[in-house]
Amino acid sequence: MKHYTSIQDISELDSLVKDAFSLKRNPRAFETLGKGKTLVMLFFNASLRTRLSTENAAKNLGMDVQILNVTDSWKLEFADGSIMNADTSEHVREAAQVIAQYADVLAVRAFPSLTDKQADQQEMVLKSFIKYAGIPVVNMESATQHPLQALADLITIEENKTIKQPKVVLSWAPHPKALPHAVANSFIQIMQRAEVDLSITHPEGYGLDPNIVQGTPVIYDQEKALEQADFVYVKNWSSFENYGKVLSQDPSWMMTTDKLNHARFMHCLPVRRNVVVEDAVLDSDQSLVIQQAGNRTFSAQVVLKNILEKL
Ligand code: CP
Repeated sequence: MKHYTSIQDISELDSLVKDAFSLKRNPRAFETLGKGKTLVMLFFNASLRTRLSTENAAKNLGMDVQILNVTDSWKLEFADGSIMNADTSEHVREAAQVIAQYADVLAVRAFPSLTDKQADQQEMVLKSFIKYAGIPVVNMESATQHPLQALADLITIEENKTIKQPKVVLSWAPHPKALPHAVANSFIQIMQRAEVDLSITHPEGYGLDPNIVQGTPVIYDQEKALEQADFVYVKNWSSFENYGKVLSQDPSWMMTTDKLNHARFMHCLPVRRNVVVEDAVLDSDQSLVIQQAGNRTFSAQVVLKNILEKL
């Protein structure tokens, strides 16, 4: 792959997952592949897992890593033809070309505004870096996609499934803040390509982008949706139609041990205890959240390996 911006950049999903398993068994097997190569990681937003796991992954491949929190740097302008007489100090056209002189691979985290649907859907920040940097770009969660997380989620399901085609349910959960759609979008897209029986449950008004959901069944009755589930992936997202709005904080959608029944619990983290999911679920053996976070190293590593092999 040249860039890793969405699940669509994966051509052979099965072999990518197999390669990730192989790297997990022997993380240093390709420790010279990235020698003399530098990964620059740009963060427009906070991160714990993505930052540490991607750095881990790059170092396992022998790469050097430089990290910039963009809030510590000059405020960037993205609009073409703008008169920069307000608070932006540097245009992405220069910034991206400058960074590309220091990096062989660029990774970017830039969340959506959740106020300007069109700009968010256009992935202006990520696409600007792809356009002007001219080097491979890895998406560390953009306005609409979190493909490193989704790949780690699939690896985790593959590790834990006990039947060939498990039932996987993506369930909306309440949250006090407006959250992006990226995790849900990428999870749906990778599950649509995996050997699973996927369905989605959420309250009315929380329908995700129809271009992402496509034919995946959506069930508004959470209890019915969860029947016979093998894996339940819980995530909050704000309204897509009423863009970025919190329409409901209905606590009855919180995941509980009763609702989970015998399924395994998944969440990308960070998670708000006793709002999104009750303590008893997170603290049980049914929870896979720590394993998911551990697999972030190997989803990033398999992607970086793939990119380095084509440099
Ligand atoms: N799941 C995830 O992306 O975690 P961070 O926001 O901490 O990187």
